[in-house]
Amino acid sequence: MALYSEKVMEHFRHPRNVGVIEDANGIGTVGNAKCGDIMKMYLKIEDDIVRDVKFETFGCGSAIASSSMATELIKGKPVADAMKLTNKAVAEALDGLPDYKMHCSVLAEEAIQAALDDYRSRTGAADSSDAG
Ligand code: FES
Repeated sequence: MALYSEKVMEHFRHPRNVGVIEDANGIGTVGNAKCGDIMKMYLKIEDDIVRDVKFETFGCGSAIASSSMATELIKGKPVADAMKLTNKAVAEALDGLPDYKMHCSVLAEEAIQAALDDYRSRTGAADSSDAG
């Protein structure tokens, strides 16, 4: 069996949503001290919807594929759904990652959660459930 799924290879070769959002209102940067990989997520949130999301990843192929898939999973979704994104969902959407590469998907989850935290601290939105 190939080490990486077709989907991992496809997202690694053609990552979605690479880049910077100049007027992002949520930015999160995380790193893994062991491998040294770094991931930065930019969110543009309007009306509690993730209107746009982009990433910059300095890291391995699995980290790039995980970032790409994670952005696809939250783009256009309500903030509440994005908050529920787990590394497991990212890895499953990629048709799996080797065990020793699971931490790459964890980085994607953490980067998105960090960007959402940043958004919440900027807007002061403790809970968006019934904002008015
Ligand atoms: Fe560390 Fe992939 S090897 S994020």
